Amino acid sequence: MPLVGLYENVLRPALFQLDPEAAHELAMGFLRKGLLKANPFADPKLEQTLFGVRFPNPLGLAAGFDKNAVALDHWHLLGFGFVEAGTVTLQAQPGNPKPRMFRLPQDQALVNRLGFNNDGARTVATRLAEARPKIAVGINLGKNRDSAPGDAVRDYREAYRILHPFGNYFVVNVSSPNTPGLRDLQERGPLEEIVRALRAEDADKPLFVKVAPDLEPTALDEVVAVVHETGATGLIATNTTISREGLTAPTTEAGGLSGRPLRERSDEVLRHLYRSCDRHVVLMGVGGILDGDDLYRKISLGAHLCQVYTGWIYGGLQMVPTALARLSRRMETEGIESLEALRGKDA
Ligand SMILES: Cc1cc2nc3c(=O)[nH]c(=O)nc-3n(C[C@H](O)[C@H](O)[C@H](O)COP(=O)(O)O)c2cc1C
Repeated sequence: MPLVGLYENVLRPALFQLDPEAAHELAMGFLRKGLLKANPFADPKLEQTLFGVRFPNPLGLAAGFDKNAVALDHWHLLGFGFVEAGTVTLQAQPGNPKPRMFRLPQDQALVNRLGFNNDGARTVATRLAEARPKIAVGINLGKNRDSAPGDAVRDYREAYRILHPFGNYFVVNVSSPNTPGLRDLQERGPLEEIVRALRAEDADKPLFVKVAPDLEPTALDEVVAVVHETGATGLIATNTTISREGLTAPTTEAGGLSGRPLRERSDEVLRHLYRSCDRHVVLMGVGGILDGDDLYRKISLGAHLCQVYTGWIYGGLQMVPTALARLSRRMETEGIESLEALRGKDA
């Protein structure tokens, strides 16, 4: 049986019998050995160079999957155009008590309250120093749960200093719902302080801010103002939501909701950002991408790059190449010659 068939027919059903976090650990075991592969899809139309970095295609792996940067050398084998490691915090921390990750298969969704379980900046830096990834790597930074709000800037700055040589871009994550007080850092004052602190370390390193889908338009405009004023590279929209709208099978589990029910809200935020940002601001669209039509729509709403987490879990090994092939075919049918020509068309 070919590898993709073996995965779809044997491995994935077995993984879905397991507790989601146990399944994730098991899958990471295969992934870090380079044992999982997809049939590749490549198209020069989908290549781009943005902020000095080459992307063979616009679909990357979203933060939270390879939190500790253990499988960076292998993600290109699944077809991803880039990968975002993390969230990494300055100090290692265990995250919330288990269980803390839940499948909602009827809605092609997940709820998680992992709470930034990770090995900490120093250990991850050691791993990154040895990695030889074939695609661009972003590094997503967060604040330790036990750090006082007043220490947030220090947390981001110190983690940034340690990891700085290893990322093609960095992300200030102020939008996870599972670290108390973290989302307050999206407010103009604290956010500006964090972004300025990192820009003071290196104004040339590409730097993004990742926002929550639960922000009101006026709050989004404050974030945009910070990006414009500090000269940050761009925005990632969005993280998981605390809303439970759009679920057909309700859940009482607390945490961030991702996947299909997040799609409309993430799209709305992306559209708002595209309309309010200066043209040079780079936008990444993430939230509810399940297939190539979702990918097409995110780009047509203004995304330069896109990311997926939940849709990849449900879509399986061939998800990324299948989505890219669909995007490419639609562009061809509609006479759209480049991603730049598609970008923002429907915003
Ligand atoms: C289990 C899980 C863990 C996540 N961990 C992180 C994280 O550590 N940092 C982060 O910025 N986003 C994290 N995310 C959010 C994703 O990067 C993404 O923004 C969100 O899930 C929406 O995309 P999706 O609908 O394709 O999953 C996590 C998502 C899931 C499902």
